[in-house]
Amino acid sequence: MERSNGKAGPDVVAICARHQASEGPLLPILHDVQAHYGHISDDAIQQIADALNLSRAEVFGVVTFYHDFHREPQRTHSLKVCRAEACQSVGGRDVWAAASAAADSHHADVQLEAVYCLGNCACAPSVQLDGRTIGRMNAQRVSALFARAGTGAAS
Ligand code: FES
Repeated sequence: MERSNGKAGPDVVAICARHQASEGPLLPILHDVQAHYGHISDDAIQQIADALNLSRAEVFGVVTFYHDFHREPQRTHSLKVCRAEACQSVGGRDVWAAASAAADSHHADVQLEAVYCLGNCACAPSVQLDGRTIGRMNAQRVSALFARAGTGAAS
C-alpha cells in the first residue's frame, strides 16, 4: 500500500468500507488509516465520522485518547525514552537530557518521545528505537544511537 502525502482521499473511504460491517469498526479503521498515511489527518477524521455516522468529536476523542495515534506526519525513526521512576532512578534523566540535546542539535529524521515504562525496568534505563527495546542506556549511548538513526544507520 502506497503512502500518501497526508491528504485524505478515496482510500479512507475504502478503508472504512472494509471494516464497516464488523463490530466496533472505529479502532481497526484508525489503525489502517494510520498505517496507510502515517498519521490521521483532520480530513480523515471527518471522513471516518461520516462513514460511521459518528460526530467528528467522537472520532477525534478516540484518536487523541490513544497515544499511538498520530495527528501529524511522523519522522522516519521513532526513539522513545522511558521517563518512569525505575529508569529515572538509575540515570534516565541523563538519557533524556542527552536525547533531547541530540534532537535539538541534529537535523535527524528521528521522532523523540517520552514514554512511561517500556516494560524493561530490570534493564533500566530503557529506550525503544523503531520498536526495538534497548536497556542499560546511558547519555553517551543514546546520543550515538540518535545520530546513527538520523543517518539511517540504525536499522
Ligand atoms: S520504568 Fe523504564 S522501562 Fe519500566
